[in-house]
Amino acid sequence: MVQITVAKTAGFCFGVDRAVKLVYAELEKGGRVATLGPIIHNADVVNDMIAKGARIVSSVEELEPGERVVIRSHGVGRKIYEQIAEKGNPLIDATCPFVARIHKIVAEQSAKGYFILIAGDASHPEVQGIVGHCDENCAVFKDETELKCYIDKNSPKFKKKLAIVAQTTYNILLWGDCLKQLPKDDPDILVFDTICNATASRQSDAARLSADTDVMVVVGGRNSSNTVKLYDVCRRNCKAYHIENAGELFALDFSGAERIGITAGASTPAYIIKEVQTTMTDIAKNNLDEDIDFEAALE
Ligand code: F3S
Repeated sequence: MVQITVAKTAGFCFGVDRAVKLVYAELEKGGRVATLGPIIHNADVVNDMIAKGARIVSSVEELEPGERVVIRSHGVGRKIYEQIAEKGNPLIDATCPFVARIHKIVAEQSAKGYFILIAGDASHPEVQGIVGHCDENCAVFKDETELKCYIDKNSPKFKKKLAIVAQTTYNILLWGDCLKQLPKDDPDILVFDTICNATASRQSDAARLSADTDVMVVVGGRNSSNTVKLYDVCRRNCKAYHIENAGELFALDFSGAERIGITAGASTPAYIIKEVQTTMTDIAKNNLDEDIDFEAALE
């Protein structure tokens, strides 16, 4: 008997759920709605929004007069707000409150003369948005080695007054390593732990479940960074597959697996997780060791 377990925390986080609901609420009102970038890293949801009338634009210039524009949960920099206000398009701000809190922190500390350091991926939209609230006195670092340059008095990058924040999805272990580098009780170095609890709990639940299963199925967009991190966590402990939807299960090898775990990234809707769970159960019932006619099963 194959045991299939879904991780305790999996799928939509608070911020993504809120952003998706805001878009659907706007679509229901009728009229034109555009999102500044895809609202989440999930093709099914984004395509459904497009089918219901939403448009995805990559810049404020592309907005049509009167079109309502939704800022996604990643947030944006101050300039984008100014551009939207100048164009006069009605704004629906779906920035996750946890990201908005980081914007507030960096704006306040910049104004007080602190140089802002952001732990994260400089190319990620959330980090670019945070940078856009920093008065240009800021830098992004990816790990403890890069952080050291800003606290070493002999380094050309040394800064005396530092305020340090993290991308909400920053790796908790790396964050711990970074904090160890900081001098103790330096009143000129302020640290704000801005890693989101939803990310941390998804990663620790996935780690626990994968340590106790033969195969993990990680569901989420291929370009979703939090899903890729979950996949990395799982494959340290067992065989793992990263899929976007239930249809992909039929092409995977589950032979010999007695315990199968399922987890999902923060932008995976509950109905997709349910489909994966149901399909996985059907595949298991059909005997994982038997040859399955994948083509027929997919029809
Ligand atoms: Fe917000 Fe955390 Fe999700 S920052 S968007 S609730 S991962």
